[in-house]
Amino acid sequence: MPEPTTETKRLSARLVATLTDRINASGALSFAEYMESALYQPGLGYYSAGLHKFGADGDFITAPELGSLFARCLSQNILSVAKQLPERDSYSVLEIGAGSGVLAADLLNLLEPAPHHYLILERSADLRQQQRLRIEAECPQLLHLVTWIDAPPENFSGVVFANEVADALPVERFRIQQQQVLQQYVGLENQNLKLQWVAASPELKTAVEKLQTDLGEAFADGYESEICLLLKPWLTGLLESLEQGVLLLADYGYPRTEYYHSDRSEGTLICHYRHRAHPDPLYWPGLQDITAFVDFTALAEAGDGSNECELLGYTSQADFLFASGLQEFMLAENTADLKSQLLLSAEVKQLTLPAEMGYKFQFMGFSKGLDNPDIPGFVDYGWLPRL
Ligand SMILES: C[S@@+](CC[C@H](N)C(=O)[O-])C[C@H]1O[C@@H](n2cnc3c(N)ncnc32)[C@H](O)[C@@H]1O
Repeated sequence: MPEPTTETKRLSARLVATLTDRINASGALSFAEYMESALYQPGLGYYSAGLHKFGADGDFITAPELGSLFARCLSQNILSVAKQLPERDSYSVLEIGAGSGVLAADLLNLLEPAPHHYLILERSADLRQQQRLRIEAECPQLLHLVTWIDAPPENFSGVVFANEVADALPVERFRIQQQQVLQQYVGLENQNLKLQWVAASPELKTAVEKLQTDLGEAFADGYESEICLLLKPWLTGLLESLEQGVLLLADYGYPRTEYYHSDRSEGTLICHYRHRAHPDPLYWPGLQDITAFVDFTALAEAGDGSNECELLGYTSQADFLFASGLQEFMLAENTADLKSQLLLSAEVKQLTLPAEMGYKFQFMGFSKGLDNPDIPGFVDYGWLPRL
């Protein structure tokens, strides 16, 4: 693993000191409380501390960072929703967790007609600033359309989109031991952070028991995994804010039966540091991303039927993008020179190949207040996993 710089090590040490003080004062933190601080502690957490996270020089790469094909495909779906709204020229876009701002800038340049508003709901003050600079640099004439907000707006009409945000919501980790449900905490040993297992809180115990009931079998002794108790309130909040339109989520994940398969007995939690994936969440807290795969069945359960919403579709990223015109956009790119051709081909491969993002990433959509809604991405279900 590459060694962090002295400066970033100091940043991590400050976060660890804050966590240590908190644990000394009020006891061990549940894993979700630890993950929340490691990612979002103001000024010190991974997403809040001004570190370079995205792209080749960062820790990981997301689909919109690969090039503009992802944004082009998404723009077709946004414009399709706009046409289904009663007032098609006054649609808006709400992007949740906009990262470096690359998707916002690309979409603003592509969407014709332009959205009435482009709202960004972003937790990190540092990333808000990066997003503003990116949009200012790439489409200064459209910056006036963009507003950063702190909570979902009321009566939103248009498209809500979140790429790789659900996987960044803090999770609780559980372990089955002698038929008991244990919960992972972060405590201290000789004043150093240490992962510990203790009896699960009633809330987590109930959630794990529900999982076992849904799956129709008990987890084996020693089975470990995680569960995102925040997924439902998060999604419900977004769907409540949607009056008419579509909410689209893209992320890595599985339907529940695959997520909690007996073979996946150590869960899906993963950490990213300088393009290395590893399982240690205590490695330089604040300097690495911590994430878990998304239980798409939980998302469907949280969204379908609640707030007068309907599940609009669920498919792999590859199928969603191909159905949205990926091939046509690829062929239309002006790639006269060999280098551009190779870059374009690498982008398409990374977005769609099963071993890359193509099948690991999935799209799920919900609609609300539309008559017979449909969008291009969900028209052809090449592959529909069972929820
Ligand atoms: C993995 S990054 C993805 C960034 C971007 N969507 C992309 O695809 O490149 C997660 C983003 O979501 C933001 N985020 C995480 N939880 C959030 C929440 N509850 N509300 C709003 N933004 C959130 C993070 O600050 C970050 O911008």
